[in-house]
Amino acid sequence: METIIVKKSGALNGHLKVNGSKNSILPILAASLLTKDKCILHEIPKLEDVNVMCNLLSKLGAKINRLDDNSLEIHAENITNYEAPYDLISKMRASFLVMGSLLSRVNKARVSMPGGCAIGTRPIDLHLKGFKNLNININSNRGYIQAETEGITGNHVYLDFPSVGATENLMMAACRAKGKTVIENCAEEPEIVDLANFINSMGAKIEGAGTKTITVTGVEELHGTEYTIIPDRIEAGTYMVAAVLTGGELHIDNVIPAHVQPVIAKLREVGAEIIENDSSVVVRSKGIINSTDIKTLPYPGFPTDMQAQFMLLLSLANGTSIINETIFENRFMHANEFLRMGANIKIEGNTAVVNGLNGLTGAKVRATDLRAGAALVLAGLVAEGETEISEVHHIKRGYADIVEKLQTVGADISYSMQ
Ligand code: UD1
Repeated sequence: METIIVKKSGALNGHLKVNGSKNSILPILAASLLTKDKCILHEIPKLEDVNVMCNLLSKLGAKINRLDDNSLEIHAENITNYEAPYDLISKMRASFLVMGSLLSRVNKARVSMPGGCAIGTRPIDLHLKGFKNLNININSNRGYIQAETEGITGNHVYLDFPSVGATENLMMAACRAKGKTVIENCAEEPEIVDLANFINSMGAKIEGAGTKTITVTGVEELHGTEYTIIPDRIEAGTYMVAAVLTGGELHIDNVIPAHVQPVIAKLREVGAEIIENDSSVVVRSKGIINSTDIKTLPYPGFPTDMQAQFMLLLSLANGTSIINETIFENRFMHANEFLRMGANIKIEGNTAVVNGLNGLTGAKVRATDLRAGAALVLAGLVAEGETEISEVHHIKRGYADIVEKLQTVGADISYSMQ
């Protein structure tokens, strides 16, 4: 079993470079099925989730070539299979995103239902309701969604909640539809804009991405393209928290400051100094951590994917903070692990009351999900003694080279095999 061992490390100082965005590359890989031509993608992060998506695309008939360390070529000249099986979907929910592109390309898809996951039930009803509005027949049988259409037809779709995945799946399904599709109350995340830019670079006509209403005018064919993925705002945010938590100063490169505004605002509230440059940020601790309240919301609100890291930070603040999680119903599993390290956190429903303490102590803890795992890595940096984190595979899903990167800025951290 692989674990990560972290020892109390003192202030982190130096430069870190953020990778391409996990939540952009996954839908963009799915969208590369939309054309028979080659797509070349740059700034690909080295992540387990990317491997899972590539594996799925290969099963569907795409040929994938790694051009160099950061670039991939995807060529889906022929779609030879239209089924996304349970073993891949259960590893990574985002595999469900091939549904929209398969439907667009071959008018049918058979995709396993994702089921629950560590952070909640995470239904797919909004994806399916949207597909039905686009003249797609949906049936479910033995844990699979079977979708078929005689031709996707543009329509109005209203999302009851601005779901990131549903917005992405619907954009992909609609881009070669007959007529115009208007998606209302859609997600506004930067990754939605990145996906729309990618598909537009293939010849699609998507307008309004990044706002609450997206209009997709169907075109007959899409062509190949070459595209660079945006930086990962959650990886950036995680290292920004690390600087403040450890009392250090990190220069974080390959960041779009506009994408991390909620994180910057909250870090300033807790007392950090942040300098925003064109494509980097400098985060400097002023030696204090003030308490503050957090409410997770769809973008441009505070990201749920940064909630665990902030819960940790606020565990060491002066005073009491309230965290309200409004996106996922079961996203406080990390609190139990922080409690094992001595934190004082009380959970009631979707609210956490975090009473700040002077310190934490190292312990054996478990990464319950991806972001929880990253937060535990950061916790180990400031806890007395040694912290051993198991279920490291969660962390590798979303943080390329986290151990190596933190070592370069002064962290006492390593992998261990037992
Ligand atoms: C994406 C991100 C994930 C992030 C999340 C919220 C990717 C690969 N993952 O996940 O990192 O935490 O956005 O910012 O981009 N919902 C429904 N019905 C649906 C779809 C969603 O009820 O059909 C609910 C979910 O259960 C959840 C909320 O809507 O409570 C948000 O989910 P959604 O925005 O769809 O998240 P994902 O796309 O799964």
